[in-house]
Amino acid sequence: MKVICNGLEDTAKLAERIANSLHGGECIAFSGGMGMGKTTFTRSLAKSLGYEGDVQSPTFAIVNEYIGGRLNVYHFDMYRISSFDDLYSTAFFEYCDDKNGVVVCEWSENIEGIDALPDDRIDVKIERGEDENCRIFTITPDL
Ligand SMILES: Nc1ncnc2c1ncn2[C@@H]1O[C@H](COP(=O)(O)OP(=O)(O)O)[C@@H](O)[C@H]1O
Ligand SMILES: [Mg+2]
Repeated sequence: MKVICNGLEDTAKLAERIANSLHGGECIAFSGGMGMGKTTFTRSLAKSLGYEGDVQSPTFAIVNEYIGGRLNVYHFDMYRISSFDDLYSTAFFEYCDDKNGVVVCEWSENIEGIDALPDDRIDVKIERGEDENCRIFTITPDL
């Protein structure tokens, strides 16, 4: 499914739609380069699930936990992950097994070669549209 978002409000609405479809245990895998909107989308997703705190890219921490909403959000940044052992040491697989939360991965393309992402993940590819505030989201499978 392709969704064109012209501005932050559209992106927030799409994130809310995805948030409302989540039951717990899902993994959302973002791809798309720097500044495409992975963190912005995750912020709206966490907010839609009822989390009220701060949401930032977990570049140094690798994973941030957002607790207190309808579902927890485990926000990963795979930018610095380069091996299965790296990933294993973040407790990624335990987070994926947690049905009280959802795992969200920025830079999932960075770990494609490791073949560690769950097969039933939700892929969200983000590309820039013509305009500076336009983003094209490709979501697989469809909502
Ligand atoms: N439609 C849009 N959706 C998401 N972000 C947008 C959109 N239009 C402009 N932006 C801007 O793009 C930037 C995305 O930054 P960020 O979410 O940190 O990206 P990433 O995490 O992918 O590196 C923000 O400055 C945001 O305001
Ligand atoms: Mg980011």
